Amino acid sequence: MPAASTPTPNHPINQSTMNNQPSKPYKRHTVTAALPYANGPIHVGHLAGVYVPADIYVRYLRLKGEDVIYICGSDEHGVPITIKARQEGVSPQQIVDKYHHLIKKSFKEFGISFDVYSRTSAPVHHETAASIFKTMFEKGAFIEKDSEQYYDEENKQFLADRYITGTCPHCGYEKAYGDQCENCGTSLSPDELINPRSMLSGNKPVLKKTRHWYLPLNDHEPMLRQWILESHKNDWKPNVYGQCKSWIDQGLQPRAVTRDLDWGVKLPLEGTEGKVLYVWFDAPIGYISATREWGEAHGKDWEKYWKDPESKLVHFIGKDNIVFHCIIFPVMLHAEGSYILPENVPANEFLNLEGDKISTSRNWAVWLHEYLQDFPGKQDVLRYVLCAAAPETKDNDFTWKDFQARNNNELLAIFGNFVNRTLVLTHKYFDGRVPKAGQLTDADREALESLKLFPDIIGKNIEQYRFREALAQMMNLARLGNRYLTEAEPWKIYKENPGRVQTVLNICLKLCAGMALLSEPFLPNTAKKLQQMLNLKARAWNEAGQTELLAPGHQINEAELLFEKIEDAQIKAQVNKLLEIRKNNNQEQVTESVKAPVNFDEFSKMDIRVATILEAEKVAKTKKLMKIRVDSGLDQRTVVSGIAEHFEPEALIGKKVLLLANLEPRKIKGIESHGMLLMAGNKDGALAFVIPEEGFENGSVIS
Ligand code: 2FM
Ligand code: ZN
Repeated sequence: MPAASTPTPNHPINQSTMNNQPSKPYKRHTVTAALPYANGPIHVGHLAGVYVPADIYVRYLRLKGEDVIYICGSDEHGVPITIKARQEGVSPQQIVDKYHHLIKKSFKEFGISFDVYSRTSAPVHHETAASIFKTMFEKGAFIEKDSEQYYDEENKQFLADRYITGTCPHCGYEKAYGDQCENCGTSLSPDELINPRSMLSGNKPVLKKTRHWYLPLNDHEPMLRQWILESHKNDWKPNVYGQCKSWIDQGLQPRAVTRDLDWGVKLPLEGTEGKVLYVWFDAPIGYISATREWGEAHGKDWEKYWKDPESKLVHFIGKDNIVFHCIIFPVMLHAEGSYILPENVPANEFLNLEGDKISTSRNWAVWLHEYLQDFPGKQDVLRYVLCAAAPETKDNDFTWKDFQARNNNELLAIFGNFVNRTLVLTHKYFDGRVPKAGQLTDADREALESLKLFPDIIGKNIEQYRFREALAQMMNLARLGNRYLTEAEPWKIYKENPGRVQTVLNICLKLCAGMALLSEPFLPNTAKKLQQMLNLKARAWNEAGQTELLAPGHQINEAELLFEKIEDAQIKAQVNKLLEIRKNNNQEQVTESVKAPVNFDEFSKMDIRVATILEAEKVAKTKKLMKIRVDSGLDQRTVVSGIAEHFEPEALIGKKVLLLANLEPRKIKGIESHGMLLMAGNKDGALAFVIPEEGFENGSVIS
């Protein structure tokens, strides 16, 4: 957390790193949050990277009285969804239905204030995506190319890269995918795999000719250079700008925007059965279709939000989506011709969990729907923690200890404590009526002057996507209040100077009113509760600094606690849950042995040594037994072994073998046997000696 710097007129906070370019006035704002894949629930990484910052941004714009629409929905196409459906033996539609509803519900309960949460399997989306493709096609925006791709003859289907496995040419891993080896991390193309196999049938796929449509990104390089590298050099985040620059500088290539697949938006061209739009072509169009759905439902002109240059388009995403939102989607919009381009794409880095990368497949995550169950009514605490620790400029870590500390030491001890003391004292001394301020001291004036600055300082940080700093400043207002109240000590002076206490509480209540408005983007539930406690009607953002708020005599309501202490036991339960997951993840999946387990001590009781066979002869009147004399390095001894059906005695002379030397002696057909020779037997009943590597002398111990 940045050090508390109170923005008083005498001590202005350092704004030098802020970009003070005057921003262009816009008539409306189109704000999108990355469409989550509908193949898993939402976790804290998604929230910190995308949905919480975007929600703060739109709530702020609404309080400023701006015309803003906040758009999201589920991303329901793509190969991983079809693979999950196959694994679970259900249809892709069943998979996306399940997760779409779970995701939508958890966002709602958490208070992410989308104007619309749509989905890409909706008819309005298929229609919109197909129509944009068609317009682009008619304008000659694509190139068509034939190529050879792997095809599964049994299933009569071209194979997406993820549907092909084989041996990695780099590390020899036998289960590498057609697009990546998960063992060594190398990106692959299917034709690099050794011994490729179709995941559908297990058969060797054949190469077959197929036609695809490509977006020639290279043709748009001059536009991208001008638009990103020149116009947005100073206002895009360095990580976003840097990734774009490196893509453009490496040389853009045509990208295929169609796939041979039966799950997705069908290609709207004749004779293209079995082809769909590539998921990354249709998904961002999902923002447009969702806006259209919203417009049609509310009788609004949705097109203005996407086509009027006076609309400001901002995409909130994670860093893995940068190229799609900054290069490919803008090229699509530009080629289509009637759309605006994003004004900014404030991509965040990644949030880790307790030091490890969040992973849906390893279940290493704090899932939103579980959090909502485990911490009912504590939405604002998670919003606060995720914003305070947001991975804005580098990857960051979520820990349960930090979660507890931020709740107990910041929200409760600073924000909650100031509000509570102010309201309780107002009830105690003035029956809950706002007292009239008398003569102001320097400290009073300083507090009120500072209050006036906060809406602008917090607002500017939000407008520049610096949400951590904005939140820190909002908390500085609470810190200022706490300090002011502690220094004024109204509880000590009330008896001899009640007039002074009137002034102090008048000012404290104004600070609380400021907090009630300025905390709304970050802590909407808390802000609402505080507004109710203060009996304050909803106001616009800029009014938060006005000293006329809460006129003398205004009746406030009872004080209620805004935050509760989070106990160690609650945190321990969460940490234990993660420890359990880590334990399960670390346990190798070893199939249980057919024999009961032995422990190490039991194993080490066995004295196994290298020995050489000196003599061998069949035991008379038996089929199986062979009498063998060995040099064990300790002695020469006789062993009776049941191998006579498998070997000729002469072939064994001089052979190096492994001898279990401390097997209890046993008489077999009258011959005392002092040990056992180790053999391997396969399922067909064949036997082979287990032999030591060459050069090991008799008596060498096996351990
Ligand atoms: O990375 C993802 O989770 C994608 N589903 C994001 C898509 S954003 C937009 F383009 F739809
Ligand atoms: Zn590999």
